[in-house]
Amino acid sequence: MASIQSAEGTFDLLPDEAKFWQKFRDTAYEVFGRYGYVPIETPIFEQTSLFVRGIGEATDVVSKEMFTAISGENLKTLMGGGHIKGKSQLSLRPEGTAGVVRAVAQHALVTQGGAPVKLAYAGPMFRAERPQKGRQRQFNQVGIECLGADDPTIDAEGIIMLMRFYEAIGIPTGAMRLLVNSMGCENCRPAYREAVRTYILEHADGLCEECQRRADTNPLRAFDCKKEDCRAVMAGAPRIVDNLCDDCHDHYDAVKALLDDTGLSYVEDYTLVRGLDYYTRTVFEVQVIEGMGSQNAIGGGGRYDKLMAEIGGANTPGFGFALGYERCVLALQAHGFAFEPAQKLDFYIACVDDSVRPLAFRMLQKLRDIGYKGDIDHQHRSLKGQFKQADKLRADYVVVLGPDEVARGVAKVRNMASHNEVEVPIDQAEAIYQCFSDSAAAREAGVTE
Ligand code: HAM
Repeated sequence: MASIQSAEGTFDLLPDEAKFWQKFRDTAYEVFGRYGYVPIETPIFEQTSLFVRGIGEATDVVSKEMFTAISGENLKTLMGGGHIKGKSQLSLRPEGTAGVVRAVAQHALVTQGGAPVKLAYAGPMFRAERPQKGRQRQFNQVGIECLGADDPTIDAEGIIMLMRFYEAIGIPTGAMRLLVNSMGCENCRPAYREAVRTYILEHADGLCEECQRRADTNPLRAFDCKKEDCRAVMAGAPRIVDNLCDDCHDHYDAVKALLDDTGLSYVEDYTLVRGLDYYTRTVFEVQVIEGMGSQNAIGGGGRYDKLMAEIGGANTPGFGFALGYERCVLALQAHGFAFEPAQKLDFYIACVDDSVRPLAFRMLQKLRDIGYKGDIDHQHRSLKGQFKQADKLRADYVVVLGPDEVARGVAKVRNMASHNEVEVPIDQAEAIYQCFSDSAAAREAGVTE
């Protein structure tokens, strides 16, 4: 019988990578923390209506890619020809924004006259896309959302913070391209949308069927079509920048001025529309310039001043972004990055025979309790086998305990890198700890023995 494999488009993060994912998140929370962002965790599934109303019914993410979650009880209802009621219609989150905005509204986190609420999150998202390199059905995102302020400083500091994060994890600045655009607001966008719709209808001959259909469902998405012919036609379409109202123009200019002031380089891309319907004003995307094919967007986001009201909350402006962990790893790997081995011990205790095992076990526990990472042989291997094991577990030191040593009241401590060996009195456990802490201090100072 064939063994069961992971589901299509899903991947295991094995220990070396899982450890890096931990570091990736820690770095994100650290960088975002400098800008006042604090963590939030929201459920992995939500009522389907949240995504339909929040992200937009006509988006690919909602219309084609949502994973619906059905409880056993509801499955029975469905199979019996029944209907699942609104509140029980559930979907796995395809992105994090809708859930965070729902939580902010539900718990009234934005208070009248209070400071904007700045939230950061990390976790898996689910989209039933056709899997390919850089496109998964379960993938990990790190993101932020800021609710309660529409000032351009929020947009600019958010974009700067994202770029600082990429630098912090090691993606070379020169390997990335930052695209920015403005999507306008409820005052200027409807007329622009209509102008694009008319343009699509007038140029239908040169556009694919999907883009033709978009004239009625979501005309601006035609800018996002990857087909060369469509791109060529859409290059001549009316530009949003020429159709922004004065307020949106001023907002866009202010964001760009702040980016310029920080020395951040970016490209204005009037065809950047993003795949989610909630955006107003600022939108942006970060792409890797080479080596990632069509899945080259490692992050993106923008402003969404109408989303909270759209899902039934108070009218509250918002801004945010999310970045894809797996795509960042691909970008790093293109520049020679390799995961560090997760396994790394400070010490391993090797027993010459079983008579010393109770003492070894006590010593092991003591060292662990004060914070050292260590292990012992659990399979009764020979001494040679135990050394091999210590090597595999990448232990810095092996503490050797044998009846002779114990009779003399000492343990041998071998430095696995230099092969130096010292004898340390067993009853002076601090002496053993001292050995380790000296080497930990040396490691920290970059001194290799
Ligand atoms: P998004 O552009 O749909 O935006 O996703 C953000 C990032 O998630 C993408 O740039 C990409 O790196 C990664 N990503 C998306 N889909 C996949 C996939 N199928 N496989 C691997 N990686 C993927 C959002 O999700 C918005 N919620 C961002 C936002 C936050 N806007 C405002 N606030």
